[in-house]
Parts: sequence; C-alpha cells; structure tokens
Amino acid sequence: MTGPVSSPAAGARLELESVGHLYGQTRAVSDVSLRIEPGEFVTLLGPSGCGKSTLLRILAGLMQQSEGQIRIDGQDVSGLSPAERDVGIVFQNYALFPHMTVASNIAYGLEARHMGNRAQIRARVREMIDTVRLTGLENRYPRELSGGQQQRVALARTLAVSPRILLLDEPLGALDKNLRLDMQLEIKRLQRAFAITTVMVTHDQEEALSMSDRVAVMNAGCLEQFDTPTQIYDRPSTAFVATFVGTACLLDARLERDLQRFVAYPQVGGGIALDEPAPCSRVGAVRVAVRPEQWELSTDREDSWALDATVELVMPLGPTLIIDLMASNGASLKLALPRANAPTLTHGMPVRVRVKPGANPPVFLGGASRID
Ligand SMILES: Nc1ncnc2c1ncn2[C@@H]1O[C@H](COP(=O)(O)OP(=O)(O)OP(=O)(O)O)[C@@H](O)[C@H]1O
Ligand SMILES: [Mg+2]
Repeated sequence: MTGPVSSPAAGARLELESVGHLYGQTRAVSDVSLRIEPGEFVTLLGPSGCGKSTLLRILAGLMQQSEGQIRIDGQDVSGLSPAERDVGIVFQNYALFPHMTVASNIAYGLEARHMGNRAQIRARVREMIDTVRLTGLENRYPRELSGGQQQRVALARTLAVSPRILLLDEPLGALDKNLRLDMQLEIKRLQRAFAITTVMVTHDQEEALSMSDRVAVMNAGCLEQFDTPTQIYDRPSTAFVATFVGTACLLDARLERDLQRFVAYPQVGGGIALDEPAPCSRVGAVRVAVRPEQWELSTDREDSWALDATVELVMPLGPTLIIDLMASNGASLKLALPRANAPTLTHGMPVRVRVKPGANPPVFLGGASRID
C-alpha cells in the first residue's frame, strides 16, 4: 500500500483452521476453527484465562501458533509480521506515546510506513481526528486527555493506516460504564464506516451480544459456539454457553416421552413441555437451562406444570422485578417479571411458578451438548 488512503479499507476474510497453542506444556488454545467474513464484527467471549488474548495475538502475528493455520483472504500468513498481515491492533491500555501529541501519535504509523508525503500525512491525520471526533485536541499530550479520548486516539492511530483487519483486546476495559457505552457506539460506527473485518476480545457478555455480528464463545481454550448473538442467547449449544451468556438456572430433570412431545420433569417439581419437534429420542437424565424471563407465576393450585417455592428476595431493576426463589428441595431459582401488574411479593411468601408454555428452554445431556 502506498500513499495516503482516504477511501474505506476493504475488509478481509479471516480463516482459522484447527488452531492450537501450547505455552511449554500448558495448553492455552485447542483446535479452534473459525471463518470470519469480510467486514464482519466478531467478538471472542469467555472467562478469564480461556485463551482469548492468546488467540488474538496469534491472529495479529505477535506470536506463532503451535498448531493449525491462519489465512487472510485465502493466503497462509504464518510467519508474517503484523504489518505484513496488514492488521491493526488496539490494546486495553492504549499504549500511546506519552511524549507525542495526539496528532503525532496518529501520524506515527503513517510515517513509519512511508504512507505519503508530509502534506498527505497531515491531511490524513486531520481526517482521522475528525473521524474520531477529537477536533481541537490535536496538540494535547496523552496525559491531558480522558480515558475515552485516549482510546479514540489509539483507534485513530490504528485505523489511519487502513488495515484490512482490526484486532481489539478488551479495548474498553479501563473505562467506566457510561463512557464504555459511548465508545461501543463509536467503535461500531467506525467499523461500519471502514467496513473493516474486526475481532474484539471481551469477557463482558452484554458488550459481545450488543456489538457483534457473531460471537465466538470460548471456554478452557476450546470454541464452544460461533453464532449470532440471538442464536447464542436463544439456542445455546452447550450448558456452558447457556449459563455464561445471560442468566440461566440449570435444572436437573428427567426427560420423558409423552405421545408426540417430550416433557422434562425437573427435580425441583413441576414439568416443562417441550413443543419443539422432539429434542431427542433418548429419554433419561438431562439438564434444562431456564432463563429468568421464561418463568411465570401460576395461580392455579391444580396446575401440574407448576412447582412450589418461597420468595427469598425481590429486587426492582427498572421495568423488571428480579425475584430469588427457593424451591421446596432447597434449590434456588431466579425469575424476572415485568414490574407493571406484578403482585406484591415479600420474603417468605409461598408462590407457585412454572415455565411459560412455548418457552422451549434448551435441554442438555450430561452437561456437554445440546440435544437435537
Ligand atoms: N506467556 C505465557 N506463558 C505461559 N502461560 C501463559 C502465557 N500467557 C498466557 N498463559 C496461559 O494461557 C492461558 C490463556 O491465557 P490468555 O491470556 O489467552 O487468556 P484470556 O482469555 O485472554 O484471559 P483474560 O480474560 O484474563 O485476559 C491461561 O491459562 C494463561 O495462564
Ligand atoms: Mg486477555
């Protein structure tokens, strides 16, 4: 690439094939295969230590994977540096040069890569400053900026050289909640405007679900599910995904066949009709992942789908009431009810609850995989 690039970068296709990594004897990543489309925004989501940063560093070319292949637009990039791969990287701690102004920080990559003469670079820097909405702050030093402003400089510096792929490792981790929301929108806006293929690491599930085209959920070095946010939430493919993404309680249950459908009988009582086409032809011990909003109160004493519980705690959360219940066997259940029209519930009050008809919570066998 030569000369300043004012037109949006065209995103690249990014493929990982059976990528694995070992630090000495310690396995950090196992057999991860992903195909990320040009212009797609993908997040790597998972608990601390599950291998997200390792995978991102491998994608960037900052380290070499022990196993498997990385391809960018079909080309095997093993052994290529980040610049040769044409990837831009933004880390959590911004890593701005403290002795350089905003403008010099943004110009740095353009100068290092000889992307244009002085006038062209100055024009590109001005364009990037406007793009990330830092106009007027170009002569400030990093210490004279807020966290969100520093993060925008880091983004501008990375995007200035028009990389084909943008890699972000917890870029918003250091920001408070409001600023984080603003920056989430900012990153999405820039990512769309530049149509740049983006992989972002986060352990914040809300951030992953709200920003991504697809989410790759990782656990202990393995890819658990790679899917749209809606599918991840509604159709988790493993019990881990069901409980890590959003809130769900896993109920131990017995799956039985009842004429055309299946019914799960949780140990806590009641029953859950699964009207989806038979989730499985095997009956027996299963676990059902029920989300708080999938429960409802039952007023019918004869309702055989309902179970008995007592109210432990009631917390109003905006338009929703979050209710902690204790089932008769001591198990804890979490419900979310709309606050409007909700009856008054107090600690120790007996209630009957059931899973809403048609909720179709996912069913797992042995905690490993969804049955279908
Ligand atoms: N340089 C290293 N040498 C040895 N082990 C390492 C090294 N870097 C990371 N690990 C280990 O590899 C595993 C994955 O680490 P990684 O940094 O990829 O996790 P992560 O998902 O990014 O976690 P976090 O959310 O805490 O940042 C962890 O068990 C970690 O202890
Ligand atoms: Mg990390």
